[in-house]
Amino acid sequence: MKKSDVVRAVLGDRYHVAPLHHGGQAFAPTNIALCKYWGKRDQDINLPLTSSLSISLGNKGATVDLRIHHGAHDEIFLNEYEVDRVSPFSKRLIEFLNLFRHHHEPRFSVHIKSNVPIAAGLASSACGFASLIMALDALFGWKLDQRELSILARLGSGSATRSLWPGFVEWHSGIRGDGMDSHGVMIEETWPELCIGLLIVSEKAKGIPSREAMQRTVTTSALYSAWPAKVSRDLSLLKQAISVCDFPLLGKTAESNATTMHATMLSAWPPITYAIPETLLAMQQVWQLRSEGLSLYFTQDAGPNLKLLFLQKDIDTVKSHFPQAEIVQPFVGC
Ligand code: DP6
Repeated sequence: MKKSDVVRAVLGDRYHVAPLHHGGQAFAPTNIALCKYWGKRDQDINLPLTSSLSISLGNKGATVDLRIHHGAHDEIFLNEYEVDRVSPFSKRLIEFLNLFRHHHEPRFSVHIKSNVPIAAGLASSACGFASLIMALDALFGWKLDQRELSILARLGSGSATRSLWPGFVEWHSGIRGDGMDSHGVMIEETWPELCIGLLIVSEKAKGIPSREAMQRTVTTSALYSAWPAKVSRDLSLLKQAISVCDFPLLGKTAESNATTMHATMLSAWPPITYAIPETLLAMQQVWQLRSEGLSLYFTQDAGPNLKLLFLQKDIDTVKSHFPQAEIVQPFVGC
């Protein structure tokens, strides 16, 4: 199955329809996985080996403004700056746009505004591709539903499949070869007291793309065979924690899921770690504070930064220990 086959299957007759409007605009939140997606059963159409579960970060994410462009090439701007057409960032985006047009027509002017650090392990590709598919939907006037948008966003980046909704989202891995059952599903529960602290220890782009790192882990790590069972246990614990607002259960499960994912990478060959000394210092600080009674946990993605998990009642304490952390309340003000 190729990406273009999935696009044709989802769009049906709409595949050949000309754009209805000159432009389309959309926002999608970034999401942080509490139970990670790490490993694919299909690398072309980003089908995961396991399900995963995330929380969207409210108004932290990307806004895409897409316009029909009458020049010779697409033009891509990120936070007002034009991005080199041959950069890996542009190539990936153009490759995605090509799925939805014929012989490179129409050309687009794409303005992306992101308020999360690009490539610092804060899932910027997730909100980028989710907002891009929504902007394409608006421009072409397809009127796709959330499930269809989630399937198409997945073709850009796996984690983007979860960025179509606010709050908690589960990405069902699905079992079909065409991936039509592999998409996000919103979990209705909200948890207004839940806080996330974005602890940036480095804004430098990560060394090895997550795409490559997860494939190397799947093919070379002896620990990877334990991962699917760990995920299925953690998914049910997280859903239980969410349904009864059991924060220690949520925090412990999310942290243990992240450390297990990173352990599988470290045992890959050649070994992979996204941690830098500051990452480990921050982890030790979390563990120390927890041993002193603070209900504080972390998760980490494909980058050196940590996301702290805690409840609103502990905001001041967390701020005093991590003054540099940016605090997000995913369920407040959306
Ligand atoms: C560690 O979604 O970036 O953030 O599907 O190859 O684009 P591709 O990978 P990507 O991987 C995200 C990995 C992760 C875990 C997660 O978000 O679940």
